Amino acid sequence: MSVTNPPLESVLISESCLQQRIYELGRQIFTDYENQELILLGVLRGSVLFFADLARAIFKAQHESQMKEVALRFEFVQLMSYHDSTQPSTVQLIRGGSDYLKEQHVLIVEDIVDTGHTLNFLCEHLQTLNPKTVKVCTLLDKPSQRQVSVPIDYTGFEISDTFVVGYGLDYAQQYRNLPYIAVLGSI
Ligand code: PRP
Repeated sequence: MSVTNPPLESVLISESCLQQRIYELGRQIFTDYENQELILLGVLRGSVLFFADLARAIFKAQHESQMKEVALRFEFVQLMSYHDSTQPSTVQLIRGGSDYLKEQHVLIVEDIVDTGHTLNFLCEHLQTLNPKTVKVCTLLDKPSQRQVSVPIDYTGFEISDTFVVGYGLDYAQQYRNLPYIAVLGSI
């Protein structure tokens, strides 16, 4: 089988920059939720690498503080977006996100917020499940592309309007396993 992908143009965020920022986010989240139970809700598929490193960063913060803890649970949702130039984007829940979120603190973990439609759909869906609180942590934010306003509580990096891949983000399902964020060359 041969797979031809567009080449990568450049590295936008190196592995060490990613890990340093995720460590900082983990400490901040740990401080905000200390001595509480928190559900990390990963949005499949793009968030998986960020999710795993963020969960470990929260543990590191706990390890360093010694006295306090955050009891973490892992849950996942999978959403699908339909983009059609003649219609507003629609989003559909494929799996996850049901009664286990009731009365819980929930932190949505996203790889990127672009138009905001996915996050907007998910936040509205979660409100029907009566969680105690819902906050959002995204690794990347592309505010220039926003079509619907969404609340973001923790942001790793704000980026400009370029097509990025790696560290969970794909082009035609490829490049998700890069340990860094790269700019894709001409498609
Ligand atoms: C990507 C990304 C976000 C969403 C953001 O998911 O993981 O969930 O798009 O875009 P938006 O703000 O314009 O809604 P995608 O639908 O590509 O699926 P994937 O996570 O499986 O790659």
